[in-house]
Amino acid sequence: MVQPAPRGVRGRVRPPGDKAISHRYALLAALADGRSEIRGYSTGGDCASTIGCLRALGVAIEEVGRDASGLTLTVNGRGLGGLSAPAAMLDAGNSGSTMRMLAGILSAHPFQTTMTGDDSLRRRPMRRVILPLERMGARIGSDDGRPPLSIQGTSSIQPIEFAPEVPSAQVKTAVLLAGLHADGLTTVHEPLATRDHTERALDAFGVRVEARGRSVSVRGRQRLAAQNLDVPGDISSAAFWMVAAASLAGSEIEIGSVGINPTRTGVIDVLRRMGADVTVENGSNVGEPIGTIRVRHGHLGSTVIAPEDVPGVIDELPVLGALATHGGELRVTGAQELRVKESDRISALADGLRRMGADIDELPDGFHVRGSRRLRGGEVDARNDHRLAMAFAVAALGASGPTTIHDAGAAAVSYPEFFAVLESLRA
Ligand code: S3P
Repeated sequence: MVQPAPRGVRGRVRPPGDKAISHRYALLAALADGRSEIRGYSTGGDCASTIGCLRALGVAIEEVGRDASGLTLTVNGRGLGGLSAPAAMLDAGNSGSTMRMLAGILSAHPFQTTMTGDDSLRRRPMRRVILPLERMGARIGSDDGRPPLSIQGTSSIQPIEFAPEVPSAQVKTAVLLAGLHADGLTTVHEPLATRDHTERALDAFGVRVEARGRSVSVRGRQRLAAQNLDVPGDISSAAFWMVAAASLAGSEIEIGSVGINPTRTGVIDVLRRMGADVTVENGSNVGEPIGTIRVRHGHLGSTVIAPEDVPGVIDELPVLGALATHGGELRVTGAQELRVKESDRISALADGLRRMGADIDELPDGFHVRGSRRLRGGEVDARNDHRLAMAFAVAALGASGPTTIHDAGAAAVSYPEFFAVLESLRA
């Protein structure tokens, strides 16, 4: 149950280690020569799924510490192409990133692997990785384009030039990681630019990557060298506090050590366009830029999120929907991809916010929220989707009465500490 926060939220937060970057550092460390150390690794369930799968593929990973930034891991790399056949089926849990990115790596290993996941993951589309990876020489069975995936990899994976239909960093990564094992140049031409964490992570492990406009290429058979790396705080987790501060009168939040990679900061632009007071202080920039973000409440106006803005805010759209319930107006289009995330986020968001009293229309490819009336709270279903659980909690803070969120525990997929932090931030 989440109670309203009539005096807003105040305080300092260090968000958990970035989920997207944690996956990539673990995967690349597994392919590197030597022992890597990763600090600030995400404590969330999705990143634990990546560790579990890598261990099953013969990678020795140890948790050697834990602090406010996350886990410290050591990963004994097996070298490029050095994973071993697992004894049993791999379980990617709720994590689409684990399944899609690992599918790229497994396609270049000459053994058979089956990868499955939870009910949500088994409903998600995998053809987007199956098609390019089969063109490269893997054979991949599926349940009509959905998991489980049964991957027969090959030691002679072929380089390709590939233009995915949907902008997806996971698809780009799967193809580049398969291409890393190929003899020749693999290139991905994206329809819209997506997060570039894989490109930066490859560079950090000593692999030369060429990016020109929306095209990125990697020449295969480059060796990766083990690294010691820090994962920045996750701006997608920070976004919940940024939105809470922007929308609740009396609020002021400081978020430290957070990743501010420009392919992920669309949420800052949207908050500013809606009238919030957001300042960003740049900090270090070793591979991934890190900074401090401060957000103060502002009078909310209206804005639109257009199709070309969507990749930059893809994971923040549920909480931005919650933002507009507190005032102003937000129209999102070109976001049909939300329908195939951990849940159908368009229908689940509209349903939940409406149950709390919001004025929201569901569009085929987005939603339209008008914050003209105060939410009353109520009972909502997060449909086992972490970002919905947290978005509903942020909406609930501005309601006149309490809100019960079913499946709120799903938050642990990316932010196990979320509800404890929420209570500590009440002003
Ligand atoms: C991710 C990419 C996005 C995002 C997901 C993580 C990544 O998915 O929604 O949470 O780490 O590459 P798509 O690539 O499917 O858009």
